[in-house]
Amino acid sequence: MPTITEILDTMDYGPALESDAIARDWLSRGPFGHFIGGNYTPPGQMFETRDPASDAVLAEVTQGRAQDVDAAVSAARAAFPAWSGLPGHARARHLYAIARQIQKRERLFAVLECLDNGKPIREARDIDVPLAVRHFYHHAGWAELVAEEFAGQRPHGVCGQIIPWNFPLLMLAWKIAPALAAGNTVVLKPAEYTPLTALLFAEICIEAGLPAGVVNIVTGDGTTGAALVAHEGVDKIAFTGSTNVGREIRRATAGTDKALTLELGGKSPFIVFADADLDAAVEGVVDAIWFNQGEVCCAGSRILVAEAAAGQFEAKLRARMDGLRVGAPLDKSTDIGAIVHPRQLARIHDLLAQGQAAGGVLYQGEAPDGCFCAPALMVEVSPANPCVREEIFGPVAVMMTFRTPDEAVDLANNTRYGLAASIWSENLTQAMDIAARVKAGVVWINATNLFDANAPFGGMRESGFGREGARAGMAAYLRPVRTDAKPVAPTPLAPLPQSASIGGLDRTHKLYIGGAQKRADTGQSYSVLAGDTLQGHAPLGSRKDIRNAVEAAHKASAWTAMSGHQRAQILYFLGENLAARADSLCAFAPRSEIDASVARAFYYAAWADKFDGSVHDTQSAHVTLAMKEAFGVMGLVCGEEAPLLGFLSLVLPAIAMGNRVVATPPQSAPLAALELAQVLAVSDIPAGVVNIVSGPVADLAQTLAGHEDVAALWCAQPELAEMVERESAGNLKPVWQVSDPLGQGRAFLNAATQIKTIWVPYGA
Ligand code: NAI
Repeated sequence: MPTITEILDTMDYGPALESDAIARDWLSRGPFGHFIGGNYTPPGQMFETRDPASDAVLAEVTQGRAQDVDAAVSAARAAFPAWSGLPGHARARHLYAIARQIQKRERLFAVLECLDNGKPIREARDIDVPLAVRHFYHHAGWAELVAEEFAGQRPHGVCGQIIPWNFPLLMLAWKIAPALAAGNTVVLKPAEYTPLTALLFAEICIEAGLPAGVVNIVTGDGTTGAALVAHEGVDKIAFTGSTNVGREIRRATAGTDKALTLELGGKSPFIVFADADLDAAVEGVVDAIWFNQGEVCCAGSRILVAEAAAGQFEAKLRARMDGLRVGAPLDKSTDIGAIVHPRQLARIHDLLAQGQAAGGVLYQGEAPDGCFCAPALMVEVSPANPCVREEIFGPVAVMMTFRTPDEAVDLANNTRYGLAASIWSENLTQAMDIAARVKAGVVWINATNLFDANAPFGGMRESGFGREGARAGMAAYLRPVRTDAKPVAPTPLAPLPQSASIGGLDRTHKLYIGGAQKRADTGQSYSVLAGDTLQGHAPLGSRKDIRNAVEAAHKASAWTAMSGHQRAQILYFLGENLAARADSLCAFAPRSEIDASVARAFYYAAWADKFDGSVHDTQSAHVTLAMKEAFGVMGLVCGEEAPLLGFLSLVLPAIAMGNRVVATPPQSAPLAALELAQVLAVSDIPAGVVNIVSGPVADLAQTLAGHEDVAALWCAQPELAEMVERESAGNLKPVWQVSDPLGQGRAFLNAATQIKTIWVPYGA
């Protein structure tokens, strides 16, 4: 026991341990089975879940086998008709009841989470549990409103949901609340390190009177997760976890028609300008990378600081680090608890060693023995340092400097991820400029790690796709009611004729790349037949042409920077020019299609400046913007139906929203699209905005799907669905299977944009 004099010397806190008796009492119900069809199943083959802070076994939990997954999916399937058929109000009442029940037992949830995961009790109590409750309340509201606000949409059916170990209850809430609100039933698999709060949640479902089978929980490791992903009775997979597993899931679900959302890893920049409030920014770093032991997908793990402020900032940061307390998670004065598992700790140490071997200089304090890691800061790092590139998922930040805002943006975007970013500057004009340029799904200005059920959360690039929270999150648990006729399959290419002359007239079209008509790299063309009549020759594009087209599209970034109004004017002009050229286009497409195409150009011109983002009501004294952003370069694989309208139905919404596109026209009838080159060229559409590559559509689509610099892909050829989804796993681009390739409307605009959520706190 320290003396008062010693305490006054050190000014150290005394221990303030939260009692774990409440959780121990609950744990005595173990060993635990799964929760299927409203009941706990008898325990099966067991695995242990441990308290990482003490390494003591907390409970034995059942390893889910394929037959358990099957039973859970069957229970969810059986519950679906009645649950989805309930009036929204009835579902809402269940969700309110769940929210209230969690609130009533919030202390138990907080202590159990803290024991199972190792996070500090302060965070479990003040962040995880209240946010989980907030999610259920918010989505109870959506259940009330879904029929009115999402008319024409229906739930997917059975959702398989796989969650990680860093925020076990909160991730459960993020997954289950919107799924249930929309009328789906679920099978959820918690992470093997942290299954306990999900099993406690099962009790809440019983207490709240949730109908049996609406929520099912199957515990187990990655093999259980893989069985859930593979199960034919699952209609949607929602996954949060590592990018590598996300990639596996993308491949495993390819071509299955399962809806998919992936919330994956990150390496998020934390950008500090010289004019920032440096003390506030230092506190920001504490919340960005030392919150939850740094085991946060959106952790601000790459500090980029203006060279002019770097010395002062580093000194302040190191002083603050020294004051952080690492230790017992149940101690209310602990800042950094235990790392979730020794395997994760080993991974952190390994990456630190790699970072040092690559020249990084590590500044790190002391941590108690056991599964603990002291907060760490690595400086003198190059962009290639493994600690700069890899997601560490531990309390480790790297720090680099920049001289100009452009350099800050370049460094921030020099990653394959795109989950979050934090920007610190007292100059809001500058901060918003950087927010717009940084590739991240969530941007916090002068703040970090803010979350709310009414703020869309999710990533770009290899951080995954889909949003959780708010209207966008609800939309991910719904699909259109109508199912559309399948487009016609492409017929095999006709043999190449040596001569390109038809009746003495050269009718060989060219590709359209970077605003110019180009010969195919192969130098070859193929015959296009209308019935038995040779209509002309189309260039036989190849992967080389696709690559050139993608490069041209990248250069046309000014299109994305234009205002919607400017793009609208150009699309109106395109519509007028289409009408003026109707006679020449008539050789390749029926008049009715040309008229419909003209109308479509006007339709998307109308939308170009009206597909607004929103301002969400989240926490008080915050403006939370949900901006709709273009992806950048998109690949469009058009259907075989209606050669002109089918082509423009995909191209127009994509470019109206500011994307640049590489489009493959219908293989069997590409001439109408190729003929369009003339119209595009005179319509002020800048070079590179629309690129057209004809040829063997499966090969071209494969190249587009696998291309690292194509950010999103639309595919209107169902036969290619499986292949393009599998190939897209490389850079995890979202793939939209266009079910209504001749349609128009909001679904196209939604698929042409991604939401960037920007949080701006205010107040003197
Ligand atoms: P993980 O991605 O393997 O685990 C996440 C969840 O996926 C768990 O429930 C796991 O059982 C399940 N899972 C694993 N393999 C699966 C498969 N083939 N099919 C279906 N489900 C599968 O993450 P892990 O191994 O626990 O952590 C490794 C690294 O991943 C961490 O160091 C961190 O960098 C990253 N990570 C990122 C998370 C995020 O929220 N972005 C969360 C957890 C980990």
